[in-house]
Amino acid sequence: MFTKKYVDVTESEEVQAKHKAFEHLLEEYAGDILHSDNFQKSKLYIQHGDVSVFTHSIYVARCAVMINRKLHVGCDERELIRGALLHDYFLYDWHHNTPENIHPHLHGFYHPGIALKNADRDFELTLLEKDIIKKHMWPLTVVPPKYREAWVVTTADKYSSFLETVKLRKSGKADFHYA
Ligand SMILES: [Fe+2]
Ligand SMILES: [Fe+2]
Repeated sequence: MFTKKYVDVTESEEVQAKHKAFEHLLEEYAGDILHSDNFQKSKLYIQHGDVSVFTHSIYVARCAVMINRKLHVGCDERELIRGALLHDYFLYDWHHNTPENIHPHLHGFYHPGIALKNADRDFELTLLEKDIIKKHMWPLTVVPPKYREAWVVTTADKYSSFLETVKLRKSGKADFHYA
């Protein structure tokens, strides 16, 4: 059962209230994903430094919502959040040579397709959610996103990955917020 808070916060009451509101939004739109066994397993897989795929995916979802609201992009937030949570649903640690990691040196190219295949097996996906997952590595994967939600997630993913990496270099700890 999923009991831990999604993201640790040590901020002001106002910021904590924003995090709470985001957690409610996650539960409402994607509780089934968050509580699923496979998504929970992504806590074991490292994305950048000591940030797990689980945490990274939630950061990307939060960042995507923030971009959508601040820039008035007009995304469907349910699909935005679900696609963002599943964008890296490849379900292995890409740093290790395990049987699941079938293209260890080309992870960047292949993992969107693997994530889509896994997500399509475990959840009912809309066309828009599929586009988010499949195109999130653009321009590495050549075909650009079709929907505004996919553009927002590919941007949020790059921004989140950059912050995770930079913060790690600076302090050795990925403890930051997008509020
Ligand atoms: Fe990715
Ligand atoms: Fe990602």
